[in-house]
Amino acid sequence: MREETRQWFRDAKYGLFIHWGLYSILAGEYRGVKTDKVAEWILNYMDIPVEEYRELARQFAPDHFNADEIVRKAKEDWGMQYLVFTTKHHEGFAMYDSKVSDYNVVKATPYGKDVLREIREACDKYGMKLGLYYSQAQDWDDPDGYRNHADNSKKNFRRYFDEKVKPQVAELLTNYGEICLIWFDTPMEMTYEETKELADLVHGLQPECLLSGRTGHGLGDYRTSGDNFLPALPCGELWEAPATLNDTWGYSKHDHNWKSPEDVLRLLLRITARGGNYLLNIGPRGDGSVPEESVAVLDAVGRYVTANREAIFGTQPVDPIYPYELDWALLTRRPHKIYIHVLRPRKHATLLGVANHVTRATLVEDGRELEVSCTMTTEGDSRVRVFFPEDLTGRADFAVCLETEEADPVFEPFAG
Ligand code: GLC
Repeated sequence: MREETRQWFRDAKYGLFIHWGLYSILAGEYRGVKTDKVAEWILNYMDIPVEEYRELARQFAPDHFNADEIVRKAKEDWGMQYLVFTTKHHEGFAMYDSKVSDYNVVKATPYGKDVLREIREACDKYGMKLGLYYSQAQDWDDPDGYRNHADNSKKNFRRYFDEKVKPQVAELLTNYGEICLIWFDTPMEMTYEETKELADLVHGLQPECLLSGRTGHGLGDYRTSGDNFLPALPCGELWEAPATLNDTWGYSKHDHNWKSPEDVLRLLLRITARGGNYLLNIGPRGDGSVPEESVAVLDAVGRYVTANREAIFGTQPVDPIYPYELDWALLTRRPHKIYIHVLRPRKHATLLGVANHVTRATLVEDGRELEVSCTMTTEGDSRVRVFFPEDLTGRADFAVCLETEEADPVFEPFAG
């Protein structure tokens, strides 16, 4: 793996996850009963007969799907640097033109088009890196694919692995151009040998294709946190937090628990400051449309991200961490710069315990110079204070850059 590949991932910070499959048609409900779990697991949790579930493919006619618009918005409006698409989720259905299994979007649906090809072309058009989610162990359609909440002891996983998994992963890495990462998920009871075979297959076909942390047996090229979990402290390794905008990955018509733009921005900045990437999900409906609430939140966050790119992308972990809780701001950094992301209206930004020699303060969005003072308080704390002109004092959506003589932040610990 080239260092420049790892550096790309380290700098990327923000990606779009797209969960779209036959489960999107059911939208979190089966025969009038709502699932209280993630909607893409509905076959498993509601024990839908496989033959009945397969019939969903006949309904898949997403006339509102617009790959070009989704990718354009992700890149240009939302500020995302890569995209990960579910090519085969645990349901076993291929959302691409698979020659290995006819249970796929081209052969088995009235839509009849290669969704992944549409996304690939849009990614090439807008300069978006493309990653592929592939469920390498669970397959609820194949009798020998693993299934959570079931007895897998009688399954001939090796047959499934040799006849479906490896040839599908091979065709994905052969037919769809440069793939930045493979997002393997839920390795279940796969052995080290099987996992190593899969990792070698990927790197044999595309040596610079990163493997997610859920590849298993420590063979991933980066760490993947639990769903919607992020480490509490900065972490120098490559890592990514997969996250939802509400509480489900696949679309559910019953899940309206949307995060606010401020929730999402704070998560993005926390993950950025801790050295990770935020892989944030949308779940298109069965008709291919993207829930309007998702778009509204991502548009709002995107206005901030695109106005403050340098304060997010390519930044380093804030390590040591700033020793004080701030409810009005979060910090990010790069050499010789500390960024203060102001998320509550203030007359000025005051940081105690910063002993850096600050040479200048500017507004990131337009480069305007701001008045800054570096003093000692009467209590004996180092204090940096940036004064805001009238037009900034009522705002809660801008970033200030402190330029420092020192390459790294010099924070004075509260104790010890
Ligand atoms: C969990 C779920 C899966 C989802 C993934 C996203 O592994 O099983 O449905 O795709 O999280 O992180």
